[in-house]
Amino acid sequence: MTIVVTGATGHLGRLVIESLLAKGVPASEIVGLGRQVDKIADLGIDVRHVTYDDVDALTEAFTGADRVLFISGSEVGRRIPQHTNVVTAAKKADVGLVVYTSAPRADTTDMKLATEHLATERMLADSGLPHVVLRNGWYLENYNVPQAIEHGLFGAAGDGRIAAATRADFAEAAASALVGDGHAGRVYELGGESFTLAELAAEISRQSGRPVVYTDLPEDKYADLLVGVGLPRAGAEILADSDRAASRGALDVPRTDLEGLLGRPVTPLSTAIRAALSRD
Ligand SMILES: NC(=O)c1ccc[n+]([C@@H]2O[C@H](COP(=O)([O-])OP(=O)(O)OC[C@H]3O[C@@H](n4cnc5c(N)ncnc54)[C@H](OP(=O)(O)O)[C@@H]3O)[C@@H](O)[C@H]2O)c1
Repeated sequence: MTIVVTGATGHLGRLVIESLLAKGVPASEIVGLGRQVDKIADLGIDVRHVTYDDVDALTEAFTGADRVLFISGSEVGRRIPQHTNVVTAAKKADVGLVVYTSAPRADTTDMKLATEHLATERMLADSGLPHVVLRNGWYLENYNVPQAIEHGLFGAAGDGRIAAATRADFAEAAASALVGDGHAGRVYELGGESFTLAELAAEISRQSGRPVVYTDLPEDKYADLLVGVGLPRAGAEILADSDRAASRGALDVPRTDLEGLLGRPVTPLSTAIRAALSRD
């Protein structure tokens, strides 16, 4: 069985490949696609430089693939044409199963970040390809623990609960969907232990012994703060909008689907914070 992973050079992609290898998939059966291919040269798999903008290169890379993990691109605003290329190529190559990383409740949420994900889910449905949708929730790694200790935690999510999980948990779930049977046609809403940002600040404070407070800002002020620390305005507004949606529960999904794919409990928030603190 050949498994092709797009976005293999990114944080999630590397973890998925490590998880596939840990599940016993031979390195010779895994192909990783990306642009900065040197980043995964150490994994021992077949690595190819392929961009989402090159439908022919994608088709060639997918030819002979039994399963493709289609990790959503990171260039927000450019993803509809790019993802169209991926789906077109998968169709041309007659891939047996496409597993796509989407966003929480992509079909009903008003979170702007989900627009391109919903369009991609629709492309996959229209393609007729057998596929699985992994609606990944927020990464716990989106919250920078050392920065929170240094400067405090800021956001616009109010008291909204956020069912974040570690990238490693999402990656292991993706690997399970790739190697397992019976997932075609399923849409999984994946989330971990849920918390408010005030609870997150309190846990960081408890473990670090340093006072960490969560400051809730209006959406526009939070976007300004993100611009102030170097984000482009468009990206800052998308993130602030996501927090606005989170304040109304958009990122609070049950952990049942994630635990079902993992076959174990999700990594607890306290464990992930301990790991983040021990890295610094
Ligand atoms: N759930 C969340 O909280 C969350 C947070 C951030 C992002 N995401 C989404 O989840 C995806 C995976 O997360 P991640 O942490 O692994 O992100 P990441 O580290 O930024 O990796 C993004 C991957 O997409 C590849 N990529 C981007 N544009 C591409 C293009 N035009 N052609 C080919 N490859 C392209 C990158 O390739 P190169 O590095 O080789 O250029 C990289 O492998 C992201 O791309 C984004 O869609 C989710």
